Amino acid sequence: MENAVKRIGVLTSGGDAPGMNAAVRAVVRAAIYRNIDCIGIRRGYSGLINGDFVKLSADSVAHIINRGGTMLYTARSEDFRSVEGQKKAAATCKLLGLEGIVAIGGDGTFRGLVELSKQGISVVGIPATIDNDITCTDYTIGFDTAANTAVEAIDRLRDTMQSHERCSVVEVMGRNAGHLALYVGLATGATAVLVPEKPLDFDHDVVARIRQARLAGKTHFMIIVAEGAGSGIEIGKGIHEELGLDPRVTILGHIQRGGTPSARDRVMATRMGYHAVCALAEGKTNRVICAQHGKMVDYDINEALKMKKGINEQQYEVLLAMTGIDE
Ligand code: F6P
Repeated sequence: MENAVKRIGVLTSGGDAPGMNAAVRAVVRAAIYRNIDCIGIRRGYSGLINGDFVKLSADSVAHIINRGGTMLYTARSEDFRSVEGQKKAAATCKLLGLEGIVAIGGDGTFRGLVELSKQGISVVGIPATIDNDITCTDYTIGFDTAANTAVEAIDRLRDTMQSHERCSVVEVMGRNAGHLALYVGLATGATAVLVPEKPLDFDHDVVARIRQARLAGKTHFMIIVAEGAGSGIEIGKGIHEELGLDPRVTILGHIQRGGTPSARDRVMATRMGYHAVCALAEGKTNRVICAQHGKMVDYDINEALKMKKGINEQQYEVLLAMTGIDE
């Protein structure tokens, strides 16, 4: 079958996520497999505006499947927000003979693709963010590694909290979403988990849960706060005021974005990279590659951006049962 595109570019944009390198590798190798040239654009959309590119071969993406970060660098480009910037980016594509772009990133990256497609470039997005907040896909690259990193850190904190019979408040990333916090809270057996999708009732969600755990004989408490649900420091202060405890607050921050990608992230990234190239080769545009019920499908980017992803209610129900108090 004739390919709809002869040469494509691949870029990573927005916050990095473990597994982005595996996705870049997969795009390059799938392109070579289908006789399509592939060029790497460095520093996201800024690189597209400035013509910051690198030639990629099967060799140049060897030994990166296991590396965190992104070999293409990433950026959040202000210039690309203007139509002028978008026109410059499209001009670079034309100059380099790029008929299609695969962009690996989150919702901001996909909004960029929509604008680029208006300039006549075929575009496909691969969801990669530790936040797992892209609606049309069950999974975004990086989530599993970030969750495991957070779990490992919290297990360490638990050791010292247990020894000192303390309360620990851990703030995890996730931007405006609580997927990471909920998952990590389930995995660590937290006393309470605060997510932005559920309105915060401090007395019910924190104070009562700590009291209940105390009654059950616990002498240390683990409170997980999604960054979108509030500040760990403020929650810690509230616990001190209400219960007289002296919590230690840990903000896990960017630690969660680094590290060797898990097997799950490598495999998902590899599958998504392959399907992104297939979509462009088949003449598709404005698509995002999504994992749905174990299969890879592609979805209209505009539709995907309109949808709202709620918290996994089944997981939340289990969490409430585990923390002892239901709604
Ligand atoms: O979207 C990924 C993410 O790590 C969010 O969880 C977090 O809110 C944000 O990026 C942090 O962004 P920055 O790297 O610009 O500090």
